Amino acid sequence: MNKSILCVILVLLSLMSFEQNQKVFPSFFQPDAWIAPPEANKIKNPFASDQKSINSGKIIYTTYCISCHGEEGKGDGAASLSIKNKPADHSGKKMQTQSDGAIFWKLTEGRPALDMISYKFVLSENERWDLVNYIRTLAAK
Ligand code: HEC
Repeated sequence: MNKSILCVILVLLSLMSFEQNQKVFPSFFQPDAWIAPPEANKIKNPFASDQKSINSGKIIYTTYCISCHGEEGKGDGAASLSIKNKPADHSGKKMQTQSDGAIFWKLTEGRPALDMISYKFVLSENERWDLVNYIRTLAAK
């Protein structure tokens, strides 16, 4: 058999098995975990988590976030059905064990390739900290 034909067949075979693998081992093929850079943990929350900040965070969350993250932050908003990547569960341990700075950094920078928008130019810094304070109240009890 001609060598180049053999090459083409090998490439095709490996592509087919890649697709097969994605079905058999989906978790292995999932995108990398999203981890905020270490500097983000050093950003201090300049606002006290008082009722005023939490109330304002709730209004912003309801306006901008529940379509994907859901009313209780569980990642089950209506739009979560139509996007490829599952919105994070804000009530869970994975989220709540992150520092205020890391959460602030993530919602500021976003991860557009995986459907999480950047809110850097949409919300003021103050509004983003109100969100962090509100997100803390979503922790599963
Ligand atoms: C279009 C849908 C969508 C909207 C709207 C949205 N998000 Fe997200 N969000 C996502 C997705 C999808 C992820 C998961 C990204 C990943 O896994 O890499 C995510 C992840 C996050 C994370 C990281 C969670 C973790 O476990 O580390 C934070 C924080 C976050 N979102 C906050 C917000 C806030 C606050 C708002 C509103 C201002 C918002 N998001 C609006 C889709 C959305």
